[in-house]
Amino acid sequence: MDLTGYRVLVTPTSFGKGDPQIKKELESLVGEVVYNPTGRPLTSAEVADLIKGCDGYIAGLDAIDRLAVSAADRLKVIARYGVGVDNVDLNAAQEKGILVTNTPGANSVSVAELTIALILALARNIVEASVATRSGGWPRMNGLSLEGKCVGLVGFGAIGQQVARRLAGFDCRLLAYDPYPNRDYAAQLGVELVGLEDLLHQSDFLSLHLPLMPDTREIVNAGFLSQMKPGAALINTSRGELIREADLLEAVKSGRLRGAALDVFAKEPPGADHPLLGVPQILVTPHCASHTDGATAKMGRMAMEECLCVLRGQTPKYRVI
Ligand code: DGY
Repeated sequence: MDLTGYRVLVTPTSFGKGDPQIKKELESLVGEVVYNPTGRPLTSAEVADLIKGCDGYIAGLDAIDRLAVSAADRLKVIARYGVGVDNVDLNAAQEKGILVTNTPGANSVSVAELTIALILALARNIVEASVATRSGGWPRMNGLSLEGKCVGLVGFGAIGQQVARRLAGFDCRLLAYDPYPNRDYAAQLGVELVGLEDLLHQSDFLSLHLPLMPDTREIVNAGFLSQMKPGAALINTSRGELIREADLLEAVKSGRLRGAALDVFAKEPPGADHPLLGVPQILVTPHCASHTDGATAKMGRMAMEECLCVLRGQTPKYRVI
């Protein structure tokens, strides 16, 4: 089918980085590709401005709220480049008959790998050690070994499972909490499925692998943190809004937690004066868990195929609504 009459908006900043062929393919198939001019996720007003006249939208982490969606005048599909659709007002899209798709599984391995990197960085004080050594120091730092420790995964979906699979060789105890767990896979990996309270009490490293939904928003609050094992560390590569940030700050500053590693924030970017950025025991990265050659290639191809599929009038594979 001829797609040259169609215009597609592409906003993920890493689109085509893992496989430049994807951009070439898209550009050769549709009439026009409009790229994100900002180099960061778009605000709602910026989406509203760029979305006009577009038939397809390969979407990064932009604020695709009701205002943004209301500006769409010919849009047929929002193809999320990634898994989370919490940045899209699904009701607003549905009301306008716009399909929303995502790319399940495309970035699970990369998010799991960053999670493990952050666990190890916290356990071995890698960032602090590097900074001290670079500036002429030779500190004798004592880290934690993962061997014999307990790693708890809150959420045992695609990403949680990849984390467990990779940690299986570290001789640590693996716990997971999930309301609908894959029991067979857990048994295969030696993961103990437990209630959330047990997981909080026992985990030395606790990693969040949950989608952002009304009942998971700020699930990590003062009550949650007070049940965590003293001296434990928290890792979040999922969504910033899972954590009530002021409560985490207090838990780390008071020494109740050993530290935290955050790839995501409630507001992104958090701003240089964000209090969590000033705490040495909190490692921070810029929502980059999916930014690898492998994940960007897979997300790019899947999102492009989903978008083109809808423009061709076919049924997409990964329709969210
Ligand atoms: C996701 O999959 O939602 C990641 O955050 C990247 O967009």
